[in-house]
Formats: sequence, structure tokens, C-alpha cells
Amino acid sequence: MTILVTGGAGFIGANFVLDWMAEVGTLIVNLDKLTYAGNLRNLASLETDTRHVFTRGDIGDPEFVTALLREHTPRAIVHFAAESHVDRSIHGPEDFIDTNIVGTFRLLEAARGYWQSLPAKEQAAFRFLHVSTDEVYGSLGPEDPAFSETSGYAPNSPYSASKAASDHLVRAYFHTYGLPVITSNCSNNYGPFQFPEKLIPLMILHGMTGKPLPIYGDGLNVRDWLYVGDHCAALRRVLAKGRPGEVYNIGGRSEMTNLDLIGTLCALLDELHPQSPVTPHEKLITFVEDRPGHDRRYAIDAAKIEHELGWQPSETFASGLRRTVAWYLDNPQWITEVTSGQYRNWIDTNYGQRVTS
Ligand code: NAD
Ligand code: DAU
Repeated sequence: MTILVTGGAGFIGANFVLDWMAEVGTLIVNLDKLTYAGNLRNLASLETDTRHVFTRGDIGDPEFVTALLREHTPRAIVHFAAESHVDRSIHGPEDFIDTNIVGTFRLLEAARGYWQSLPAKEQAAFRFLHVSTDEVYGSLGPEDPAFSETSGYAPNSPYSASKAASDHLVRAYFHTYGLPVITSNCSNNYGPFQFPEKLIPLMILHGMTGKPLPIYGDGLNVRDWLYVGDHCAALRRVLAKGRPGEVYNIGGRSEMTNLDLIGTLCALLDELHPQSPVTPHEKLITFVEDRPGHDRRYAIDAAKIEHELGWQPSETFASGLRRTVAWYLDNPQWITEVTSGQYRNWIDTNYGQRVTS
């Protein structure tokens, strides 16, 4: 009953591994390259747990992945590994092409070879779950209906273009070779262990330390937020009950502008961290130059997964954000470790040259 998880030391992958251990408890082989975004600290609670086997490696290394599949004979692959940050893809797209497109292609090839070697019954039960994003659908206008599984692809950043390419490859492996793949396209996640380059953890850390809260453009871009634990529960449901060849959109029906989100976050920080150097935290809001190609609005229509698989998020945005802020406040050591290395260089690269308005 083993499953292979790729990218399980990253934000969503680590939450998924921890959630799986609590809810299912069968063996996970965790394949992660440990880029700047991979952090084994996220899995510290599993250090002595024999149900979790960590292997450092690259999804783009076919011999390595093939050997791993032969050794552990998983019944499924849950594929999280990716370069995931839009701003990084603007500064340097090549890693995104290498991992998200070429890496996914090589992983699919290794999976296909392994799957074809299985007995018929195990072939039928095998699943390749490709964890993707709503960003492949592009940007919505204010009155447009939310993205559904039949929305056209219109990616606007190197990140979303690379994820779109990987989605197409995954689809092709179903139609061409019969590999039992399923793709999920999820909206913005937030929660524990998120690397502080993404909006919510970056703003929490800056708020706690009295640094400016940099809002891109006019702050009226809209995102549809989902607590990471709800995403993990949805993925478990898709793996158990989803139909091969299908796509499932996952989202929290929780759209808001960045400005509204930061206002809510500032009020929470005022309540939970009144000892911050600058309060009220709202005073720290600073408008900075916009992200090039910044998608205006994302929204997910989650009707298919709700009706077909009976999934619903259990956190509201208010409850999920409160849990998230509390987690960062309770884990200063995690923050110190993460902010001591690569992260500092990244802050200089991304914000150093942005004009403040
Ligand atoms: P993340 O950047 O936090 O983690 C990515 C993980 O993949 C890291 O542990 C990294 O070391 C690993 N990795 C990178 N390249 C690798 C390679 N070549 N081989 C093996 N491992 C490699 O990302 P995340 O936010 O946890 O996102 C996980 C997945 O979910 C991604 O595929 C992303 O596109 C998708 N997704 C993310 C969100 C979100 O809001 N964060 C929403 C929808 C979908
Ligand atoms: O929609 C799903 C996607 O959500 C995932 O596929 C990506 O992996 C994930 O990074 C996320 O992409 P976004 O670009 O939406 O997330 P990010 O946290 O980078 O930004 C959220 C919004 O906040 C976006 O409109 C840009 C804005 N922003 C972001 C940062 C980092 C700011 O205004 N200031 C900032 O400093």
C-alpha cells in the first residue's frame, strides 16, 4: 500500500505527508531534491517513524526514479515536486522549465515503464496524481464565472506556462498510453510550513518584525484562498475515488483582494502579537511596483469535486488564517532557520530593485 510522494519536503507536500500519516498511516516514500523550498524540518515529527522513507533525489533523474519505483513498488505517485513561486519564475524561468516540464516528463516516463511492468490487477489500481494549479487558466475579469475543469488554458507567467505544459503531458500519457493519471488544479494555499516568499507568510513575518508589508500594484488583485489541510484532504479523496483521466478543480470559494486580506491579517496580528515593534500593523502597508503580467483574478468552481467526490473544505478563511498566524507565532525556531539562508538573498533580489510608490 506504499505511495511515492514527490516534493514532500515542501509546503503542501510536507502537510500532505503529515496528514497522510495521521489519517491513513501507510508507508510513504518521499522523493525530494531539497531545493531552497524543501525543508526536512517540516517533517521533524516523523524522524523516527518507519512509515516515512525520505530519499533525496531529482524527479528528472530517470535511473534514480526507476530504481526507486522498482525497490518500493508503490501503488500510486502523488506528484507535488515543482518550482512554485511566480516571482522567481519571472527572475529566472529556466529551473521552472527543467523541473516542471522536463522533470514531469521524465517522471511520467519512469512511471509508465514501471506501470507497464505490473500485473494487470495492480496496473488497474495504480494512480498518478498530478498536483497542479488554477493559474494555468489565466486571469478572470471581475464578472467572469469561476474557472471550471473545462475552462481554456491561458497561462501568463513562466511558472503557470510550465505547469500548463506539465498538465498537457500528464493528459497525453492517459490518452496515448493509458497511464491512469488524475490532475487536480487548486487555488492559493496557505497554512503551516509555507516558505516566506509567498504572500501570507511573508506578510506575517514582516508584520511581526516591523518591516514594510509590500503590496504589488493597487492591491486589488483577487485570489481564492484554501487552507492547506483542506487541500490535502481533497487530494486524499481524489486519490481514493477520483476517476482516471479526469481533472478536479479544488478551491475554497473564498475570493478576496490582496488589500482586504492584508487588512484582516493586520487586525489578527494586532490581536495575537500586540508586542510587534509597529502597531497597528496596518501602518506598515507599502505599495510597491506591480508584478509583470500580474493576473488580476482567480476563482475556482469546485462543484465537480464537491458533487462527485463529496469533498468540502472544513476551514473558513477566518479560522484558517487564525490557525496559520498562531502557527508562525508558535514556531520561532522554524522561522529563524528558514530566514537565515537563501531566503535573505531572495528578499534582496526581488525587492531590492522595486520602486516604492
Ligand atoms: P514548494 O515550492 O513549497 O515545494 C516544492 C518542493 O519540491 C520542495 O520540497 C522542493 O525541494 C521540491 N523539488 C523542486 N524541484 C524538485 C525536483 N527536480 N525533484 C524533486 N523535488 C523537487 O511548493 P508548494 O507550494 O508546496 O507546491 C507544491 C505543488 O502544488 C506544486 O506542484 C505547485 O505547483 C502546486 N500548487 C501550489 C499551490 C500553492 O498555493 N502553493 C496551489 C496549487 C497548486
Ligand atoms: O493560485 C495557485 C498559485 O498560488 C500556486 O500555483 C502558486 O504556486 C502559488 O505561489 C500561488 O501563486 P500567487 O502568485 O497567487 O501567490 P503569491 O503568494 O506569490 O501572491 C499572492 C498575491 O499577492 C498575488 O496577487 C501577488 C501578491 N503579492 C505577493 C507577494 C509575494 C503582493 O502583493 N506582495 C508580495 O510581496
